[in-house]
Amino acid sequence: MSADPELPAGAADPELPAGAAEPELRAASAADLDALHALETRLFASDAWSRSMLREELTGELRSYVVLADPETGAVLGYAGVLTVGTEADIQTIAVVPELRGRGQGRRLMRQLLATAAQAGAREVFLEVRADNPVARGLYDSLGFAEIGVRPRYYQPDGVDAIVMRHELKDT
Ligand SMILES: CC(C)(COP(=O)(O)OP(=O)(O)OC[C@H]1O[C@@H](n2cnc3c(N)ncnc32)[C@H](O)[C@@H]1OP(=O)(O)O)[C@@H](O)C(=O)NCCC(=O)NCCS
Repeated sequence: MSADPELPAGAADPELPAGAAEPELRAASAADLDALHALETRLFASDAWSRSMLREELTGELRSYVVLADPETGAVLGYAGVLTVGTEADIQTIAVVPELRGRGQGRRLMRQLLATAAQAGAREVFLEVRADNPVARGLYDSLGFAEIGVRPRYYQPDGVDAIVMRHELKDT
């Protein structure tokens, strides 16, 4: 994966507070499995994917995962992935550690996934989001995703609806 396309090399992220080191955005690999599994369990609770599912995501064909890493310690601070099949892509997951939220890093991850999907030939990108997750829905809305349907009680055991959203990739 190439470096973050939205910032020139060495540029400071205007959304990070002064003095905070810009997290590194890099391709994920199987070596990140332990870190992702620990974060997944912590951040998604009852929706968390198992270790074997995450291994499949990190090593499976057609998938592209990225991580945000602390440039000094290497600690993983966020991750996201996309699956592209032909002209359709699916956002598989996205998460940022609570300490780093609200500083533009979720948007940065999403933009990278959209760029990766477009590069892989996708024309449209789909995702599912919990109806009770206004922060993620706000992020997707602002990136041009539109609601196209609802899967009732999709998230179990909580019985929460999934909102299905679609984003059309424009020619660049
Ligand atoms: C969803 C998530 C990845 C967003 O990451 P983030 O780094 O906080 O997001 P950003 O700082 O890039 O903010 C992007 C947009 O999200 C929305 N947003 C962020 N924080 C918000 C808040 N506290 N309240 C409402 N909307 C918020 C806004 O639309 C924001 O755009 P803006 O800054 O232009 O207003 C993060 O909250 C997270 O990891 N949540 C837990 C896991 C999760 O729910 N994943 C999504 C599964 S579908």
